[in-house]
Amino acid sequence: MSLKKKEERFDRALEEMGIRIKDADQMKVRDDVFDEITLLALYKLVHKKWISVVGGPISTGKEANVFYAEREGIPIAIKIYRIRTANFTTMGEYIRGDRRFASVRKNRKDLIFAWTKKEFSNLARAKDAGVPVPEPLVWDRNILIMSFLGEDERPYPQLRSVKLEDPMAVYKQIIGYIEALYSKAGLIHGDLSEFNILYGDQPYFIDMGQSVTRDHPRALPFLMRDVKNINRFFRNRCDVRGDEEIFNDITGLDKAEP
Ligand SMILES: Nc1ncnc2c1ncn2[C@@H]1O[C@H](COP(=O)(O)OP(=O)(O)OP(=O)(O)O)[C@@H](O)[C@H]1O
Ligand SMILES: [Mg+2]
Repeated sequence: MSLKKKEERFDRALEEMGIRIKDADQMKVRDDVFDEITLLALYKLVHKKWISVVGGPISTGKEANVFYAEREGIPIAIKIYRIRTANFTTMGEYIRGDRRFASVRKNRKDLIFAWTKKEFSNLARAKDAGVPVPEPLVWDRNILIMSFLGEDERPYPQLRSVKLEDPMAVYKQIIGYIEALYSKAGLIHGDLSEFNILYGDQPYFIDMGQSVTRDHPRALPFLMRDVKNINRFFRNRCDVRGDEEIFNDITGLDKAEP
């Protein structure tokens, strides 16, 4: 099929799903995000009534695009991992060493599907442990559908751009969530910072594709990095506890011990 024909077919397919490609910028999004595999997966999800309308893009990240959408009038977020342009090398680092993905073949597509499934199961485990996260609803191939965190079609702001009234209270909440994630869900977020926490009525952890189980060979360094990031953010906002003290408390280890 000629490129032009293919593009027309994509646009028609997207339009049927209520996705409109308006300008040159979004054309680029179309080409990067909506390859044939993704379109098929989207079709399937629309057909199964997980999606009724797809709205505008919310974010274009390093590995994924997030869209606002609705399921029978209820807001949802659709995260689509880009098969072509995801940063494949860094993803592999987290997946290797994670026993849940021991059998994943090493090609790009399979890795990204496994990643999507991993984010789904990480969110589900976090939620079960009482950590506020978007509720994962369904996944198919490289697409993850979750509850939408926000109001009036706008996502809650990232923690970095919120002026907190009571930073100490929020700090304590976040440390408590890191601890619950570790001890109840057996997970380490692995990329926690003021960018991957949305703030609405309370802080929500998001973006858990890379989160690892406690038995991952790099679990402890990841945990320490998460703690340090949170302390760095709160240091000039309230009194923070020491990195090691928090780490030891959460893990029950004593880092000072030989
Ligand atoms: N469930 C959700 N509800 C509302 N907004 C969301 C949701 N999930 C993600 N977003 C929005 O999309 C942005 C990116 O999400 P996320 O961090 O999961 O994707 P990412 O592609 O991994 O991002 P990056 O590469 O920038 O870290 C968030 O900052 C937020 O604005
Ligand atoms: Mg992110």
